[in-house]
Amino acid sequence: MSVNPKIDYLRALREQSRLGGGEERIKRQHDAGRNTARERLDILLDPGSFREIDAFVMHRSRDFGLDKQRFLGDGVVTGWGTINGRLVYVYSQDFTVMGGSLSQTQAQKIIKIMEMAMKTGAPVIGLNDSGGARIQEGVISLGGYADIFLQNTLASGVIPQISVIMGPCAGGAVYSPALTDFIFMVKNTSYMFVTGPDVVKQVTHEDVTFEELGGASVHASKSGVCHVVGENENHTLLLVRELFGYLPQNNMEDPPFVPTQDDPLRADPELDSIVPDSPNKPYDMKDVIHRVVDEGAFYEIHTDYAQNIVVGFARLGGHSIGIVANQPMVLAGVLDIAASEKAARFIRLCDCFNLPIITFVDVPGYMPGTVQEHNGIITSGAKLLYAYCEATVPKLTVTTRKAYGGAYCVMSSKHIRGDLNLAWPSAEIAVMGPEGAVEIIYRRDLKEADDPAARKAELAAEYRERLANPYVAAENGYIDDVIEPRETRARLINGLEVFQNKRDSNPPKKHGNIPL
Ligand code: HXC
Repeated sequence: MSVNPKIDYLRALREQSRLGGGEERIKRQHDAGRNTARERLDILLDPGSFREIDAFVMHRSRDFGLDKQRFLGDGVVTGWGTINGRLVYVYSQDFTVMGGSLSQTQAQKIIKIMEMAMKTGAPVIGLNDSGGARIQEGVISLGGYADIFLQNTLASGVIPQISVIMGPCAGGAVYSPALTDFIFMVKNTSYMFVTGPDVVKQVTHEDVTFEELGGASVHASKSGVCHVVGENENHTLLLVRELFGYLPQNNMEDPPFVPTQDDPLRADPELDSIVPDSPNKPYDMKDVIHRVVDEGAFYEIHTDYAQNIVVGFARLGGHSIGIVANQPMVLAGVLDIAASEKAARFIRLCDCFNLPIITFVDVPGYMPGTVQEHNGIITSGAKLLYAYCEATVPKLTVTTRKAYGGAYCVMSSKHIRGDLNLAWPSAEIAVMGPEGAVEIIYRRDLKEADDPAARKAELAAEYRERLANPYVAAENGYIDDVIEPRETRARLINGLEVFQNKRDSNPPKKHGNIPL
């Protein structure tokens, strides 16, 4: 109790707002294994840094008895705080207030902090836990969603936007997260879908559970909607904090520099023998990445989706970077529709937010077949090409083994403004692999040979010696240098320092027309 009754009243109101939908509903939330909106913010943000605004906002609706259900804050907690001392704006939907459903006023609160974030150039993190549009409000609620979608789109490429799905996220509500840069989901307790299992049953007669339709594992591995999955709520929020460390506050800033104890000149002799002698034998490109980057720390995005390409963040000599790498362990690292789209989106993110792109290349080409052709690999492959061509951040490329055909051109080659293109001695840069090539160019010769298999092996060896190596490309200046694999870290860090002040731009235009 204070000496001033007005202050007592304020304190009482604040306490009422803190309780959201009340103790009974908070208990229900806890019993379901979920934290409340405020508890989540306590984990996400630096201790004591959260400042709430709009805690006294209430909806103005009268229909369907809503005038008797008014809660301070109206189902979302908004404000700002810090992550490792850096400003971030947050909103956290409160499921204890009408299922976190979105009212007009809730939308206004979310938009208010998004506008502040745009003015001050700081990221927005949204914690989503909502039954969707507040049904009693009808179109007024839908309008609130549309207003948020517009803000998400205007903020895209200006400030990082991160969505964390911590409960239901259904109907058109999924489109706000989908417009943001990252979607995190919590294993087993979060789900996203445009139409729920009941409607699916009516329309397509499929029996499907919430988890099977739109759980974290489905979106992380099958649809690619989700970028990162956490084991539980706390783990997911800690992963968001970690990601934050790689990103700048806005598109006008460089990402944070984090000094490292890892020697920038550290040579790794193991890399010299990591590529197997046989060109068809796989090796794990993630081993290469771990051995090269600062302290072996690689923050992978889309780990379970399109595993034939690997994307994620790391640091080199303290500089934050984005990595794109073909993965010979999965489908021989071939580029298919999913891999092309996954990498294209990541490259555009890096380019928006001034993250240099390091590309590790070992790619046999684009995936052949009717499934890929009929589903549009031409368009998807062009997306990847467009993203690399358009990117003006420093682009450093290391070809470890195969760079065949169109995939050679696409994977950050010199021709599409690669700044530093390095190759290992094991690199094979050619129109296609030796076996395929000799079958075409020596078809007649092979037909007439006494022992076609032996002749083919002989011709393939000759082809490999002449064309399937890095030296033809190096002779033409398409590869700037052929390096010993052990030197990769030192050469990339040097390259980042040389090109960090690089200036490059695209012709003025309203915007390009990426093949969507
Ligand atoms: C108003 C809602 C609500 C909603 C839930 N509640 N969803 N109130 N509008 N959309 C309220 C409930 O009445 C209940 O109030 C409380 O939230 C908790 O809901 P429960 O059903 O008890 O919780 P649970 O069993 O966990 O189920 C959660 C749920 C379910 C799966 C999300 O509530 C549900 O199916 N809700 C409707 C989902 C939906 O169809 N939304 C519209 C989607 S279309 P009390 O008072 O009991 O605590 C859409 C369009 C967006 O969103 C378009 C954008 C362009």
